[in-house]
Formats: sequence, C-alpha cells, structure tokens
Amino acid sequence: MKQRLLSHARVLMPDGSVLADATVAVDHDRIAWVGTEPPAEMADWPADDLGGDLLTPALLDCHTHLVHGGHRAREFELRLNGASYEDIARAGGGILGTVAATRAASEDALVETALPRLDALLAEGVGVVEIKSGYGLDRDTELKMLRAATRLATLRPVRIVRSFLGAHAIPPEYSGRADAYLDEVCLPTLEAAHAEGLVDMVDGFCEGIAFSPEQIGRVFDQAEALGLPIKLHAEQLSDLGGAVMAAGRGARSVEHLECLNPTDAEALAAAGTVAVLLPGAFYALRETRRPPIDALRAAGVPMAVSTDCNPGSSPLTSLLLAMNMACTLFRLTPAEALAGVTKHAAKALGLDAEYGVIEPGRRVDLVRWAVQDPAELSYRIGFNPLRERIRGAAA
Ligand code: NIG
Ligand code: FE
Repeated sequence: MKQRLLSHARVLMPDGSVLADATVAVDHDRIAWVGTEPPAEMADWPADDLGGDLLTPALLDCHTHLVHGGHRAREFELRLNGASYEDIARAGGGILGTVAATRAASEDALVETALPRLDALLAEGVGVVEIKSGYGLDRDTELKMLRAATRLATLRPVRIVRSFLGAHAIPPEYSGRADAYLDEVCLPTLEAAHAEGLVDMVDGFCEGIAFSPEQIGRVFDQAEALGLPIKLHAEQLSDLGGAVMAAGRGARSVEHLECLNPTDAEALAAAGTVAVLLPGAFYALRETRRPPIDALRAAGVPMAVSTDCNPGSSPLTSLLLAMNMACTLFRLTPAEALAGVTKHAAKALGLDAEYGVIEPGRRVDLVRWAVQDPAELSYRIGFNPLRERIRGAAA
C-alpha cells in the first residue's frame, strides 16, 4: 500500500471516542492524516470506502507464553477435581511439566505448534504479540524458545516482542537452590541471549512457588546492566511486594495483580507502570480474588488486557474473549478493555510511539471491523467481527 485514503470510516480516536464519517490517510507504512475533510494535497489519493465500518488500531497481546511444548489438559482435570495450581506445581507438574515437553521439542516443532495459536490471535486483529521464554530453564532451551519466537515474525504479518523469562520456575536439577540456578544458568543465559539479539524485555515470576523480590531484583540488575527494559508477573497468588519493587525500578508493566494491595496502586501510577490484567488466568484457575480495579482506576494506572496464552493457567488464544472477560469478571468498561488491548498494551511493550492509537506518524496497522460501536468488540462472546486487517508496506 502506497498513498491512499481510507474513507467513510468510524475511527477510534486516541481518547476512546469515535469520529464518524472520517478518513485516515496512509502513506506507505505510516498514518499521514486523520479527520473528516482531507487536505487538498491528499484529495486525489486513491480511496477505499470503508462503508461506515469501525476502524481501530491493530490489537496488541502484551503477555503470552505462546511458544511451548506439549499441553496440560490432564492438569485441567486435576484442578476440576480440586487440586490447586500451587499443589500441582509443588508436586513437580505445572510449569515444570511444560519445561520437560519444551526441552524435548525441536525448534522447528516449537514453531510449528505455535503457528496455529498465533494464527488464532491474528484472525482477531492482533498485530503485535509479546512472547516469553521460560519453559527451558536451561541455556539451550531458553535460546531455542527465543529463536522460535523470532522466526514467527518471518512467517506471519506480526510484530513479535521477545521477553526473557529465565526466572519463571526453578528447574528440577536446581530444586531448593534458586540462587544457584540464577547464578549458574539464568543470568549467564540472559547475557548469551542478549548477545545473540534475542531479547527485547526481561520478565520474572515473583511468587512463593517461584522467586522472591530479592532474587528477581538480581535478574533486574542484570537487565539494567544490559540496557533491557523490565516487566514482572507479580501478586498473582500471594502478595510479596513484587509489583511495587518492579515499579520502583521503572518496570514497564506488572502483571496479574489479583493479590495487589489497593494502596499499592499509587506507586504504580507514580512510576508510570502499566497494570496488565489477565482474566483468562483468573477464569481458568477459578480465582476468587480480583485485581483492585477500582484503586488502579482511581490512581490513574493504565490498565492493559492480555490473553496470557499458556498451556497451564490460561490456555486462551482469543484476545476478544479476554476483553469480554475483563469486563464481565473484572468490571472494566468496554472502552477500558479496548484501550487495554490497544494504547495501554502498546505502552506496556514500549511501542506507544508506533502502535496502539490512530494518529499521524503511527504505523499503518489497522483493523476494520463489521461493527459500529466499539463496545461490540467486548460484549459478544465467541464471535469475531473482523472484516479486514490493513497493514502498510514500508516505502
Ligand atoms: O502467567 N504465572 C506464571 N506464568 C504463567 C503460567 C505458566 C504456566 O502455568 O505454564 C502465567 O500464568
Ligand atoms: Fe504469564
């Protein structure tokens, strides 16, 4: 696509309002202009009539474990019969079950099995997907996961953001020796992965069944030394103070937050850290504690919404369903849910200069939906109104 006008659209504006009968002028891969009366110099650009359809930015899924080996359907049954996620993890299942399957898979197999999940996201207008490592927990497998994630962007029209999650769990060979695992495997692997250009961000799992805030702090020290941005799984199952620690260190986002103390919202707001809400994990684990949405909202913390696509706590590959769940289970408004998969997700990934809003200068990665009202994207359940994804080519 070179220069053209996308006319007669209902355009989602950065403040969440809709501009009716609007035109978006696109110039190769950039948005050139947005409004109702195109300026004279653009008036003769070829036009596509969008027939009054809603036009939004492409969606961003800012927290996924999309690349992984195997599945954990058996655990699903165990949980239905009363076992908790933590019981299963302590018995050597859970994340460690996926670690065994991911270690056994080839890089090609990881790519092949990730593609259908990626395609499911893309079919719903997702244009940017964050993908974590963290099911290797040894050098070779962590690198293999990150290489597989990198390859996905060459196979599909998608921007992939890769997060190093070596501090996801303690592998069986280091059981009870978390610090030795960090020193001997996690930190050197982060350095190697960064040297190979495989890391965009650094993540961790701060939890009783994983790493303490002090241990995560050591991973963040290394990230800082390498100049990499940080994010953190925090306050999912217990309140260890990880979210405030990460925010204090400038984390782009903190994620899950079911057990966050409402009074901690101010610290997140002050740091400009995004709260990433993962209603799929809340749903799949039949969690009853909800993130302190009212406190986050009152403090002005940007809230993103993501699938957390993973084989254990959230085997979810629909971002539209995550939006619906964010409204139904967490009481976000439909407008908040949409901001959560567009501009706030872009901020969580550090891509807010390029993605997440329709504004001159941003990338042309847009979605045309067969709906009029943006709330329709959140309110239907299991229905995909995508008409067309519009992605600009570079000059
Ligand atoms: O985001 N909480 C830690 N990590 C994942 C779960 C991973 C798994 O169960 O395999 C999450 O929920
Ligand atoms: Fe996760």
